[in-house]
Amino acid sequence: MTTALSLRGLGKDYGARKAVHALDLDVERGECLGLLGPNGAGKTTTISMACGVVTPTRGTIAIGGIELARDPHGAKRKLGLVPQQLAVYDELSALQNLRYFGALYGLRGDELAHRIDWALGVVGLRERATDIVKTYSGGMQRRLNLASGIVHKPEVLVLDEPTVGVDPQSRNHIFETVKALQGDGMTIVYTSHYMEEVEALCDRVAIIDGGAIVAVGTIAELVAEHSQRGVAVDLAGTPEQVAAAEAAAAAHGVVERVDGELRIVPTAGLAPVVAALESTGATIERIESHRASLETAFLALTGKTLRDDA
Ligand SMILES: Nc1ncnc2c1ncn2[C@@H]1O[C@H](COP(=O)(O)OP(=O)(O)OP(=O)(O)O)[C@@H](O)[C@H]1O
Ligand SMILES: [Mg+2]
Repeated sequence: MTTALSLRGLGKDYGARKAVHALDLDVERGECLGLLGPNGAGKTTTISMACGVVTPTRGTIAIGGIELARDPHGAKRKLGLVPQQLAVYDELSALQNLRYFGALYGLRGDELAHRIDWALGVVGLRERATDIVKTYSGGMQRRLNLASGIVHKPEVLVLDEPTVGVDPQSRNHIFETVKALQGDGMTIVYTSHYMEEVEALCDRVAIIDGGAIVAVGTIAELVAEHSQRGVAVDLAGTPEQVAAAEAAAAAHGVVERVDGELRIVPTAGLAPVVAALESTGATIERIESHRASLETAFLALTGKTLRDDA
C-alpha cells in the first residue's frame, strides 16, 4: 500500500451550488502534490473534506489506507492540517498552543514534551515559546500555525496557502521547513498561489477549476501537454491592413485576439509569421515571446492567471 491519501468520487454541495463535483485523486507516499486553482475552484473545500473538517456530500476518503468515515480517529491521527485561516489561540503562548493540539492527537507526558520541542525547533520558535502569540509578528504566527499541524508527526501534511500574506523571511522559512519535512519522508499536499513555490516543491500538480480536476501530472507533463510557446504581437496600420495581417498570419499558426493583443502559436517557426504580418503593410510595434511554463499551462486550462488572487 503506497497510497497515502486517496479520494474517490469526493464532492460537496452547498445548497444548489456544487462546490466540488466528484473528485478522484491519489497522493503517493512521500510525494509532494501541488493543488492549484483559481479563487473559488474548490481547493479549500477539497482539503477540508480530506481532513475530516467538512462532511462530504458524496464520495470516500482514505488516509494511509484507513477510511475516514469508518475510523475518523485512526485516520485523522495520520494527517496534519495547516489551514488557510490562522488556527492558533493568540491569548496563549506557543507552548500552550502546542500542548493543546498535541493532546488533541492523544500525545501525553514525555512524548508530548519531546514532540513540542521538535516542532518548535522545526519552525524556529524555541526562543519565543513562552511568549503570548498576540505579541508575535504575522510571519511567526504562521510558523506556529505550521507547528500545530505537525506536532503529532503526521504521515500526511496538508497545507492550504501557508505563505499567503507572510513577509519574505518567514515565507522562505516556511517553504524550507516544508521541503525538509518532505525530505524526511512526510507526504505533502500543498496549495499555493505562488507558481515558483509549486515548481520548486512539488513532484506532481493537480489543477482544479470549477470544482473538478482539469489536469493532473508532473510539471513537465502538464507543460508539454497544455502549454504552448507563442508570441504576443501589437500591430499598427489601417484597420484593413491589420485585419489582412491577422488573416495572413493564420496560414502559419494559430491566431487569437486576447485583450487587444494578437496571440500566435506558430506551426512552422516564427519567420513565416512575421513575413505574413508585414506583407499587408501593417507594422509590428511589439513582439514578445511566451515561454512554455506551468503558468501558461494553468492559463490554457483555466483561462485565468494564478496571481489573480485579489
Ligand atoms: N461554507 C460554505 N457555504 C457556502 N458556500 C461555500 C462554503 N465554503 C465554500 N463555498 C463555496 O464553494 C466554492 C469553493 O470554495 P473554496 O473555498 O473551496 O475555494 P478555493 O479554491 O479554496 O478558493 P481560494 O483560492 O479563494 O481559497 C466557492 O464557490 C465558495 O463560495
Ligand atoms: Mg481556499
